[in-house]
Amino acid sequence: PTLKEAFKSKFTIGTALNSHQIYGHDSLATQLIKREFNTVTPENVMKSVNIHPGVNTYNFDAADKYVQFGQDNDMFIVGHTLVWHSQLSNFFNEIEDKDSLKLALKKHVVTVAGRYAGKINGWDVVNEALNEDGSLRNSLFLNKLGDDYLVDAFNWAKQAAPQTELYYNDYNLCAPSKREGAIKLIKFLQENNCKVDGIGMQGHWGLETPTLEEIEKSIIAYSELGIKVMITELDITVLPNPWDLEGADVNQNFEQDPKMNPYPNGMPDSVVTKFNKRYKDIFELFLKHQDKIGRVTFWGVQDGDSWLNNWPIEGRTNYPLLFDRDYKQKPAYKEVIQVAAKN
Ligand code: G3I
Repeated sequence: PTLKEAFKSKFTIGTALNSHQIYGHDSLATQLIKREFNTVTPENVMKSVNIHPGVNTYNFDAADKYVQFGQDNDMFIVGHTLVWHSQLSNFFNEIEDKDSLKLALKKHVVTVAGRYAGKINGWDVVNEALNEDGSLRNSLFLNKLGDDYLVDAFNWAKQAAPQTELYYNDYNLCAPSKREGAIKLIKFLQENNCKVDGIGMQGHWGLETPTLEEIEKSIIAYSELGIKVMITELDITVLPNPWDLEGADVNQNFEQDPKMNPYPNGMPDSVVTKFNKRYKDIFELFLKHQDKIGRVTFWGVQDGDSWLNNWPIEGRTNYPLLFDRDYKQKPAYKEVIQVAAKN
């Protein structure tokens, strides 16, 4: 079976689409996406900087094509993302007073969510609003609008697209302090009568962290809030984080350090083994909690597409996904399929 077939009765399985794929410039990817996945998320084209670059300027072309692709292939279509402090159109920063900023944000949410009402099945309404310690991030929105902006964003999205599922999406949601913060945030939305249908736990994970135990605690804790849990943006980096390298000085040129790009010609067997086991373990855990998990979405199709080749420095060779640069299934793909068959 393919991925979507293997997980059919469990949860949907998705990928992010980049603009090449959306415009049909990557036919191998298109074939693979249609075969393997039943849900899609736009990696970049619906971020405000791209879809709404000027106060009165919208670029809907790529987003429209993205939605059309999802509809043509009968997929669950995710929107990403309405309110995010990053990749934010600059005009928002230039608005001086509170009321004008609030109006501009409302116009953004209502225009974008409204355009795809009845077409997009679920929106990441607010993205990455938390600090690592669980407090609210000091973004332009929090600073100028206070925590009301969270409630407003969900209410505007509901008003513009009443049938669409609405989500909060963030990274590191398995770390205890941030988990507490996310629980508090969801409760705050619920207490303010917002429609919040789910939480997206971004799966930008490593070979060892977060631990399975912390992932499991998070799945259970979020599910207890009465919302769907989704694993979004899944990719397993196999490269060191510069800040973890012994003796690394991030103020120096760590770009020059060969330790930063240790596997330019492929992963050594020892890493392949760890990588396969990591995917097997996390999917076993997802299946154990299949009653709580609605969707698992990978952040890219094949290793060459991944943002992790360019983060936190450019030009690394990473291998975080289930398909290699030739669009071939990696051994981890087979592990994941086998886990599905057994659970
Ligand atoms: O398309 C332009 C290209 O024309 C230009 O020449 C080039 C020069 O820098 O930039 C290209 O745009 C880049 C874009 O990715 C497409 O490759 C942007 O600079 C770059 O900032 C952007 O990075 C994206 C990042 O979000 C910031 O928006 C990554 O692709 C995307 O994978 C990443 O995704 C985020 C999620 O949305 C939220 N959670 C974290 C996740 C990873 O950072």
